[in-house]
Amino acid sequence: MIAVAPSRAPVSAPVAAPGPVRVPFSDMRAQFAQVRGEVLDALAGVADSGGYILGPHVAAFESAFAAAHGVKHCIGVNTGTSALHLALIAAGVGSGDEVVTVPMTFIATSWAISYCGATPVFVDVDPETYTMDPDRVAAKISRRTKAIMPVHLYGQPADLTALRAVADRFGLPLIEDAAQAHLATYAGKPVGGFGFAAGFSFYPGKNLGACGEGGAVVTNDDAAAARMRALRDHAQTQRYHHAEIGFNYRMDAMQGAILGIKMKHIGRWTARRRVLAERYLDLLRDLPIDLPVVRRGCDPVWHLFVLLHPERDRIRAELEARGVQTGLHYPVPVHLQPAYANLGHEAGDFPVTERVARECFTLPLFPELTEGQQDVVVETLTDVLKAL
Ligand SMILES: Cc1ncc(COP(=O)(O)O)c(C=O)c1O
Repeated sequence: MIAVAPSRAPVSAPVAAPGPVRVPFSDMRAQFAQVRGEVLDALAGVADSGGYILGPHVAAFESAFAAAHGVKHCIGVNTGTSALHLALIAAGVGSGDEVVTVPMTFIATSWAISYCGATPVFVDVDPETYTMDPDRVAAKISRRTKAIMPVHLYGQPADLTALRAVADRFGLPLIEDAAQAHLATYAGKPVGGFGFAAGFSFYPGKNLGACGEGGAVVTNDDAAAARMRALRDHAQTQRYHHAEIGFNYRMDAMQGAILGIKMKHIGRWTARRRVLAERYLDLLRDLPIDLPVVRRGCDPVWHLFVLLHPERDRIRAELEARGVQTGLHYPVPVHLQPAYANLGHEAGDFPVTERVARECFTLPLFPELTEGQQDVVVETLTDVLKAL
């Protein structure tokens, strides 16, 4: 059985032996406890209904999610990766094409491009927010470029005004990888509606998480929505009539029901993440370490609270030994993954991304984290940094 980790499980092995856990990196069960009664009732309703795939719970969730993000259409699917894949197909990306994206992300951003038979063309991230550097995009656009796909990394929106401008200049669709950024706002508007389409993930550790896999693609384009709705269900426009090659990317009814219930709490959970993030920023501000920088005009949703320090591995090992769990998002940039060796990249190609990968580590931040636990994290990190 695969253990469910928040976002992705830490990868590197620390040197010091871990001590008893005082502050966990996340706590899925604490969140579930808040909705347990409601969820179990809804699940019994789904089980009794006999309808287990798509159906009214998924449709109701899709409407609520679209409304919360100010977009016309939401199509619930089985994973965030599938959501991005459908968005790219609907944007016309196919075999031999190129999509401009970032190497500082979870690998699934690039998988979606590869599933289309297209090639990810990487642009480095900006050194403050670690999101796509708009000034570097134009140089990467070729005759084969079919889309630009920035990532709202760690819950912070990419520079959408500048990216929209470059996308419009070249007549290219912008596709937001919003897997980590439910309800994050840019210039007062929720992410998801700034381009042609956006993909979200409901992997359990995400800000809005299913009790299993889930994802959604959103768009304001009626034709694209109809096509993606069909594509997720074997490209059926009518039962057993398949207009093109489709997929089984359907969301199941139980996940739809759970997500519908959690939608009622996401505002409160997001507000709590923001309070905790502000508190970290305040309590850590004098430490010799790189703190997250919030882009002007953005209200991030703090999916992950990531710090940078050249002694990252030592710090993580010391924290772990003292009972503070941390995460790593992400230690190997996409361009240096063996899976993409065929692209011929080497270390040094994307220096900002590579620095982030080398120096990043993630502190515990989830809505149920107490201020007492947060104080333990801050005090322990302060001691560890002093002793370096
Ligand atoms: C930035 C990013 N893109 C895409 C995905 C893919 O989502 P999923 O795991 O639901 O397929 C994730 C989530 O893991 C992600 O963090």
